This record gives sequence, structure tokens and C-alpha cells, in this order.
Amino acid sequence: MVQVTLFLLVLSLALGAHGLSDKKCSLTGQWINDLGSTMKISAVNNHGDFSGSYLTAVTATTNTIEESPLQGSLQRRNQKGQPTFGFTVNWTFSDSVTVFTGQCFVDKNGKEVLKTMWLLRSHVDSIENDWKATRVGINIFTRVTSK
Ligand code: BTN
Repeated sequence: MVQVTLFLLVLSLALGAHGLSDKKCSLTGQWINDLGSTMKISAVNNHGDFSGSYLTAVTATTNTIEESPLQGSLQRRNQKGQPTFGFTVNWTFSDSVTVFTGQCFVDKNGKEVLKTMWLLRSHVDSIENDWKATRVGINIFTRVTSK
């Protein structure tokens, strides 16, 4: 009896661990980052291309924030369910462009998380000001789930 219980315990642990590592990270859906910005990503096509929209919570400008389009590309080669990706946001309310690159992970609790780095290129009026035109940072996105 003890042996059977032990066997079942080991089996369920093994299956549980396997189940977690089996879960794949998908970009499609709605995400929120550590700044409170949100984005919606539509289906990824056969080439790995995707599009969506981004609503930033913050801006480097004094302009009124608007939802802006994003275009991205998902790497599908040898990704083991945790793919790398990149996307560009072409801001409709400013003269800037942001590129994000990152990886879609499944964390130890089975939760999907996007770990990204970004470059925000602002427009400057002259080449002499080029040195101050690019900001860099990181953002962590988690999935917005409707209850
Ligand atoms: C601008 O200010 O010119 C456009 C908006 C930039 C928002 C940046 S992009 C990187 C960072 N992550 C966000 O979610 N928002 C800021």
C-alpha cells in the first residue's frame, strides 16, 4: 500500500513537472507591462509575422497619447515553446519609433511572460543632437486575462 502511494506520488509529480515544461508561450492576445502600457497582438501568420496595437501609459512628449499600430516578427526556428520576437511601434501621436525585442517565456508557475528590451528613437532637429535621440529600457509584459 505504501509502495503504491509512493508510486502515485512520484508519477503525479513527474506529470506535473512535465505539464509545466510542456506549456508553450503564445504572443497572441492582450498584454500589460510594468509601466501600465497595454498591447493587443493578433494572430501570428505562417511566416511569423504579426500586427497589433499599443497603448502606452507614458510618453517622452507633451502630446496626448493615442493607441498606435505595431508590426512584429516571431522567430519560429528551434524555439522549444519559448520563442524570441521583435516588434516596432510607429507612434501616431509623436515623431518617434520604438523597437522591442524579447522572448516569450513560461515561468515556474506556468504563467506566460514577455521579457523585452526596447529602443525609443525620438526625432531631433539636427545631426549634432543625434547623441541624445535614443532611449533604452526594459519592459516585462504579462497576459491580461478576462475573468
Ligand atoms: C513617445 O513618447 O514619443 C512615444 C511613446 C513612447 C513610450 C515608451 S516606448 C518604451 C516604453 N515602454 C512603454 O510601454 N512606453 C514607453
